[in-house]
Amino acid sequence: MSEPASISQPMISMQHVDKHFGELHVLKDINLEVPRGQVVVVLGPSGSGKSTLCRTINRLEPIDSGSIAVDGVPLPAEGRKLAELRSEVGMVFQSFNLFAHKTIVDNVALAPMKVRKLGRAEARTHAMTLLERVGVANQAEKYPAQLSGGQQQRVAIARSLAMNPKVMLFDEPTSALDPEMINEVLAVMSSLASDGMTMVVVTHEMGFARRASHRVVFMADGAIVEDAAPEEFFNNPRSDRAKDFLGKILNH
Ligand SMILES: Nc1ncnc2c1ncn2[C@@H]1O[C@H](COP(=O)(O)OP(=O)(O)OP(=O)(O)O)[C@@H](O)[C@H]1O
Ligand SMILES: [Mg+2]
Repeated sequence: MSEPASISQPMISMQHVDKHFGELHVLKDINLEVPRGQVVVVLGPSGSGKSTLCRTINRLEPIDSGSIAVDGVPLPAEGRKLAELRSEVGMVFQSFNLFAHKTIVDNVALAPMKVRKLGRAEARTHAMTLLERVGVANQAEKYPAQLSGGQQQRVAIARSLAMNPKVMLFDEPTSALDPEMINEVLAVMSSLASDGMTMVVVTHEMGFARRASHRVVFMADGAIVEDAAPEEFFNNPRSDRAKDFLGKILNH
């Protein structure tokens, strides 16, 4: 018997997606379906299109052709529907981008108040629950500059979660962090993954890719070159591009 559509339908669906920046063909016929609850790590050399791919999923970047749907709904082009989509697809970047003049708890409570019209008390209570979850509740009344990079990045994750997203996109979330802070952010991401969040993660953290992902997508020159389970990708890369990439990243 077939599953109900709502369960079998992929959470993210990219079909024949192409994108150029001027002459540069940055995404080449991308086909990617991410089932609900799957964690996909995107790997590839610098300039291969990883960030652009992520950014198309919440339409920070428009595409030239093809189609993208989130939870079965094609990405809206603009307007209120686009704002709704953005709140359903959380994104965390290398730079934390917290509001410098707002406290940590207000940083997390702000969007639910503005976009979801939640009352201040309710939004702050929910924000505190999320800060607890990412381990920084004791910093709630401080300002971003008073926190470490790892703490700020965890607040940024909490801020995205405050909108109850269906999907979380991470673009090198630990690349700007000192080594001792990387693990605390990866731990939060791993726990999100265990809770069943659908995630697309661009990272150079191969340990996370091996342990926490269900699937590795390897990109080169704007195309998906390999798409495999992590153990298969790391133990038995097929393409020369992936072998070369792994040789460099694992030996450095
Ligand atoms: N706004 C833009 N305008 C023009 N070209 C761009 C723009 N953004 C990215 N590019 C180019 O598109 C290509 C893909 O960039 P992208 O940032 O997606 O790569 P990446 O795989 O994320 O690289 P990195 O590992 O360095 O972050 C690169 O050649 C880049 O120079
Ligand atoms: Mg990038």
